[in-house]
Amino acid sequence: MPLIGQFTPPGDKSISHRLILMSIIANGEMLVSGLSGCDDVNTSLSIFKQLGGQAATQAKGLAIKGLGGAFSSEKTLELDCRNSGTTIRLLMGLLSSLKGRFILDGDNQLRKRPMERVAKPLRAMGAKIETKSGNPPVIIEGSSLAGGDFQLTQASAQLKSAILLAGLQASSPTSVTEPAQTRDHTERLINYWGGRLTSEGLKNTVQPSSLTLSRFFSTPSDPSSAAFFLVAASIVAGSQVSAQNMLMSYGRTGFLRVLDKMGAKVSLTMTGDTPEPTGEVTVQYDGPLKATTVEADQVPSLIDEIPILALAATQAKGTTVFHNVGELRIKETDRLTSIRHQLGALGARINVEGDDLIIEGPTSFILPQSLDSGHDHRLAMMLTLALKIAGAKIPIIGEESISISYPTFQDDLNLLWKD
Ligand code: S3P
Repeated sequence: MPLIGQFTPPGDKSISHRLILMSIIANGEMLVSGLSGCDDVNTSLSIFKQLGGQAATQAKGLAIKGLGGAFSSEKTLELDCRNSGTTIRLLMGLLSSLKGRFILDGDNQLRKRPMERVAKPLRAMGAKIETKSGNPPVIIEGSSLAGGDFQLTQASAQLKSAILLAGLQASSPTSVTEPAQTRDHTERLINYWGGRLTSEGLKNTVQPSSLTLSRFFSTPSDPSSAAFFLVAASIVAGSQVSAQNMLMSYGRTGFLRVLDKMGAKVSLTMTGDTPEPTGEVTVQYDGPLKATTVEADQVPSLIDEIPILALAATQAKGTTVFHNVGELRIKETDRLTSIRHQLGALGARINVEGDDLIIEGPTSFILPQSLDSGHDHRLAMMLTLALKIAGAKIPIIGEESISISYPTFQDDLNLLWKD
């Protein structure tokens, strides 16, 4: 059975985090519609409230009152970032200059993720930050910050954002140059809310400045959620799926460019452009997919879509290579290993050479007794779709993790893919 229909994916997770977390330092009041209701964003929201931020659900969305950085406490505050890397890393930048002492911790997966890449540049700005051998818990003691000029060696939007957010509260300008373009939601929001930031190629410079929330913010739909069904439509004969109100920024839509190269029919109609571009995207099956090569500089624009693109590669004719995807090793799980093991268990010819992921297709799936997502939401969704394609039902261990980013995944699956 093909996938057919239109759907509106949940609000973008990256933008939702920023709307809430940047309200820690911004002034003013804002009504946000379409905010993501996923577990990770709820984590950011609980922490915002724990810091004294006000947020109330209304008929048209969430009303947020900015804290304007007005936090002061003698007591150490313990903040549980649970599974959310974006929460902890953005908080490191935001809390470094507040008047307080904070312990940022998380679940067992988060406790394995590297935090020194963020702590180091912040320390160079004067932040007092300690990590536990490079990982959470992270201890921050608020202090005054000076600007800095940073050349990053990792392409990471969380790292870039943490530095820029700290830079807003520093005493002099801060520049960050990244090795490749990553998602630019922080930069766009800083400018939209009256902060002073300039971009020149891969370099962003922020001046010490205050932010004022916009009265309204309509959250675009999440391309990283939409991707699961759009990619599945490119694999299954006869499919046509449209995602409405989807965030279309360059740094998030690399997967559509790859699908187009692999031979799917991708069409879009742009519907908005401020502060973020949005559009309606349709992916139509247009014959069997062809293998492709994904170059290193494309990777940041599709980093979260590699699990589902890897599934597409198992069904494409020829050898697909994803170059330089080593960053996958430090996601919620070691995604490079889990993609290889789980698709391998389904019979895929899949290898990791250095930091490259290599997949030879097409594959007719074989069925193991069960699959294991390792409690990684993006693995769990990819494996769910792999089993739908195989027309099989076997248990996926840890599939409840899907709510970390896409609590309505099963509803959209039922809407688009009728048995
Ligand atoms: C995100 C940045 C990316 C991405 C993550 C969300 C963000 O992480 O994988 O899901 O919202 O800034 P990195 O900054 O580690 O690449």
